[in-house]
Parts: sequence; C-alpha cells; structure tokens
Amino acid sequence: MARTVIAGNWKMHGLKADLAVIQAVADGLADKPDNIEALLCLPATLVASGAALAAGTDLEIGGQSCHQAGRGAHTGDISAEMLADAGASHVIVGHSERRADHGESDGQAAAQAEAAIAAGLTPIICVGETLAERESGKALEVVTKQVLGSVPEAAGTTSVIVAYEPVWAIGTGHTPTPEQIEEVHAAIRATLSQRFGDAGAKIPLLYGGSMKPGNAAEILAVQDVNGGLIGGASLKAEDFLAIYAAAVSQLS
Ligand code: 13P
Repeated sequence: MARTVIAGNWKMHGLKADLAVIQAVADGLADKPDNIEALLCLPATLVASGAALAAGTDLEIGGQSCHQAGRGAHTGDISAEMLADAGASHVIVGHSERRADHGESDGQAAAQAEAAIAAGLTPIICVGETLAERESGKALEVVTKQVLGSVPEAAGTTSVIVAYEPVWAIGTGHTPTPEQIEEVHAAIRATLSQRFGDAGAKIPLLYGGSMKPGNAAEILAVQDVNGGLIGGASLKAEDFLAIYAAAVSQLS
C-alpha cells in the first residue's frame, strides 16, 4: 500500500510576507500520523527560508522544477543539489505548465527526476492529458505514454511520487468525475506495477487539478488516489489544512 502525500504547489506565488502561511501550515500539522506526508513546493526564492521555518516540524518543503544537469552554464536554472542544499526534500518535475511554457518533454522530466534522486530529493513526476486529448478518447493512451517516458528506471529502487493532473482541471474549477480519476489512476498503477513490480504498487499516486476542501474527501476516497497535489487552495493555510484533515480522516 502506498503512503499518503498531501502536497501544495505554490507555483509563481509567494513573497516573504507569505512565510506566515508556511508557519500556520506547520503549526496545523501537530500530531501528524506517520503514514501521511505534508509538503509545500515553494518558489525557489522561498525554499531556504521556508525550510528553515519548517525545520523541526512535520512540514516538508519542495521545489517546483530542477535542471537535469548537476551544474553548468544554464542561466536562470536551478539544480537539484541547490534545492537540497536550501533544505528541500522534494521537487516537482514535468508539470504541465513546464511542459507548456518551456517545452519540456517526457525525456527531460525523466532526466530531471534522475537528477533529483541523485541529489537525495524525492521527485513528484506530473502527467496529464489536455481537454482535446480527453475529448478524442486518448486520455489513457496519453497518460500511459507520459508515465513510461517521464518516470525513470530508478523509480524501481528509490522513492518517487507520480501526480495525475488533467490539464483541463488545473486552475479551472472543473474536476473529473471520481470514475474518470479512478480509471486513469488504475491505468497508471498497472503501468508502474508492470514495470517495477512491488515497488510500483507502493508509489504514491496523487491527483491534482482544482482540488479544494469541498471536493477533497470525495477525490481522496477514490481507489489508488494516495493524496493530492494542490495549487490554488495551498496558498491558504486553512484550505490546505482542511484537505490534509480530509486525508487524515480517511487513514483511520
Ligand atoms: P490548482 O489546484 O490550482 O488547479 O492547480 C493544480 C496544480 O497544477 C498543482 O500542481
């Protein structure tokens, strides 16, 4: 059985003034059960200060992207080792916004995930179909291809997380039905189990896309949904903690 992970993705939001939100989230995790992880993936500028605030609490801090190279002439990029050095434990790779804004491919996502693993980080590898792909009946085919291309071989022997984020659900207020989520998560689980055996059965599969306190319990109850990757609702401590509480209540 995969562990539960509730992860926030702040995207390009957050200034020093918002460190108070991180503190409030950390405070709200008191008495966290062992079989659930809570983390916030912050903009790079806040990773070090966020990690310092979260030190000694149950909140973990992640980055949102990393370069596949360890170091070098890559102006504006950040390496996995830099994120780890700043106090991150996780990093998102292959988010659809990176794929759309920066043309990142499955191969790059896999290379970034490998770089993250080499630096001691847990990669959160994102996949998800567009609306056009879903409407043309290709959602499962597209997502399976992304999983095969974006999840590196090392996932068989080390900790990785996979997030299913249908592009059409991100920031739109539209979510798939529980049946649609279940169908895609089952396909991802089957692909990972086929490739990695028992290790594939233990990889946490997160759902992401317009997840909020009002729909979290229903989504988290879906078979093979092991948590959430939350954008907008992670910017408010109260909303993020409500989703976390929904996950905790399903553990017991
Ligand atoms: P929203 O929760 O804002 O839809 O974003 C989801 C997401 O992209 C998380 O990575």
